[in-house]
Amino acid sequence: MSADSKAVYSPPNKVVSISHCSSMEQYRRMYEKSIQDPEGFWGEIAKSFHFEQETTGKFCDYNFDPSKGRIFIKWLEGAKTNICYNCLDRHIEAGKGDQIAFYWEGNDPADRRQLTYADILRDVCKMANVLKGYGVAKGHRVAIYMPMIPELVVAMLAVARIGAVHSIVFGGYSSESLAERMIDAQASILITSDAVWRGTKLVHLKDIADGALEICKQKDLDVKKSIVVKHLCRVTAPQSAANGVANGNPSKKTHFDDKGQYKVGWKEGRDVWWEDVMKDAKSDCHAVWMDAEDPLFMLYTSGSTGKPKGVLHTVGGYMLYSATTFKYSFDYHPGDIYFCTADIGWITGHSYVTYGPLLNGATSVLFEGVPTYPHTGRFWEIVEMCKVNKFYTAPTAIRALMKFGDEPVKKYNLSSLSVLGSVGEPINPEAWMWYYRVVGNSDVSIVDTFWQTETGGHVITPLPGATPAKPGSACYPFFGVDVALLDEEGKEISGEGEGYLVFRRPWPGIMRTVYGNHERFETTYFKKFPGYYCTGDGARRDADGYIWVTGRIDDMLNVSGHLLSTAQVESALVEHEAVAEAAAVARPHHVKGECLYCFVYLAEGFEFNPKLAAELKGKVREKIGPFATPDYLQATSVGLPKTRSGKIMRRILRKVAVGDKEFGDISTLADPSIVDVLFQSRILDGKA
Ligand code: WT7
Repeated sequence: MSADSKAVYSPPNKVVSISHCSSMEQYRRMYEKSIQDPEGFWGEIAKSFHFEQETTGKFCDYNFDPSKGRIFIKWLEGAKTNICYNCLDRHIEAGKGDQIAFYWEGNDPADRRQLTYADILRDVCKMANVLKGYGVAKGHRVAIYMPMIPELVVAMLAVARIGAVHSIVFGGYSSESLAERMIDAQASILITSDAVWRGTKLVHLKDIADGALEICKQKDLDVKKSIVVKHLCRVTAPQSAANGVANGNPSKKTHFDDKGQYKVGWKEGRDVWWEDVMKDAKSDCHAVWMDAEDPLFMLYTSGSTGKPKGVLHTVGGYMLYSATTFKYSFDYHPGDIYFCTADIGWITGHSYVTYGPLLNGATSVLFEGVPTYPHTGRFWEIVEMCKVNKFYTAPTAIRALMKFGDEPVKKYNLSSLSVLGSVGEPINPEAWMWYYRVVGNSDVSIVDTFWQTETGGHVITPLPGATPAKPGSACYPFFGVDVALLDEEGKEISGEGEGYLVFRRPWPGIMRTVYGNHERFETTYFKKFPGYYCTGDGARRDADGYIWVTGRIDDMLNVSGHLLSTAQVESALVEHEAVAEAAAVARPHHVKGECLYCFVYLAEGFEFNPKLAAELKGKVREKIGPFATPDYLQATSVGLPKTRSGKIMRRILRKVAVGDKEFGDISTLADPSIVDVLFQSRILDGKA
């Protein structure tokens, strides 16, 4: 099926007729208001939330230009609130305590739970009291490394309730990555779980976390408590993993005792079971009133230097923005059932599994598993079972499922669906069309939401009841977002054109700083084009004003919707004694979007063979995590293409990786002959 990228898909009547924003005129009117009168626009929205104290200072104040002093962004100065209170207590006081907040769907379809708003508040208060008992107070950092279980939502809200700062690390990261983030955040408490099944794979979370705590200790970070949810014993193990031997788990070590109980290492004094400490905890705990600009959470994202950046979000602005984008981008209405497949360990899960939905009093699906287990119709089975109306996933998942054809989708009744969202990378028109036609039965709105960890919420997105969508375009800016495209000189491009995607002013959900390194925040996002927030993405504006995000223009790559920096991967590779130098580039991949193609220049006396290749891949898994494993490794004995000043020319390596001989100007290379040698020995498709 080929997609006509010029086609425009208008919102279906069933969406338009009830929509919060049901025409382009209304969108333009609201957008204009948000730009001309931000205080009036966001001030009105703020009225639906509980503020213990209203804004006393400026509603919005900022500086985006380094030549005029430090970069800063402030919203709702002087206002006091608590996001956990707004997510839970506010709804319960309005009589919605018995409403389901989450349908929890386990990795195995047999494992299901339901949690009401009142259930969550009770557990949040208990956990908040536990944390207080361990000395956690306002501003302290709490690290969270957990599977997609209700306790993860409880943990983050408990932290927010007492004014502490959560730093959630995705449960696919390695010990070293977790430790690096905990050390940067100086986290004194860790909340984790014993283990989790992901499909047929058993992920030993506590084992990995224990490794991280060991590293923390060596680096003088004293982690006082590790709170461990006992999860594995209450779920169904996959058939194929009988005898406790996890499929795909490279470690031979068995984690089960004779009775089939999962075993964990235990450090007395430090480790406590979640269930034990919750038992005696009091189930009421007042919410600490926070300044709107107090930190809410930090979340690490890749940086081009290889060192991850702790993106810091604050309470007030993030609350208004995650709630408002959720309401409008998915056109949420009371009674809707919403399902976002993202892991809470990423920003999508923060804003659109936890905060956005709960702030709107929504009912959502919280899914622990993977799209293809126990069968390739798992998502659709859940949609049918829970009667999901609004569904949000990533292009990489759509492409992976497309491969199995229409049949696993058509088996289920998906007529409840009305809005389908996409996030993480540009969605190719073929995947868009399949999503629309097969999943959506050509009777849905598709929202391709562009945003970043840094933006806190959607910044460019169609609105389901208003925007005629073009497959592959994120369409128009969200309310309050002032988009510009710049050329290389920093001049604004008006009308049709392509350039750097930047924003002229802050919206409430934008990050405020890089934790512990404000200067890095300034240089990364504001130095190249003073006066603008620079996304690091390129984009094109078409004749109708639609924005088409074309992808990263820095040394980042996007593997399955997750950003990685080439530097991060290279530094993992060169840690191996056999590697003198390494260069990582992105190569297009039919499912992942992009994958890693790495060039390694071996040290004297080393020979490239399958064993070494496996060791190098292992190194990347150990330093970063399994999702960063290179798909291609090419060894070179002649070196890497460098300029005379010694800079590796990745532009050329990207060409080699895709087998494109149009290298462009290579006259600045110190040794141009290297290029041909690399090209001759490049890895062809299917030979990875
Ligand atoms: C980068 C941000 C935001 C949640 C997930 C990723 C790319 C994200 C889109 C989209 C084109 C997209 C960009 C962006 N990206 N969504 N709809 N169309 N590109 O968060 O890890 O902070 O990555 O993902 O390159 O800069 P993240």
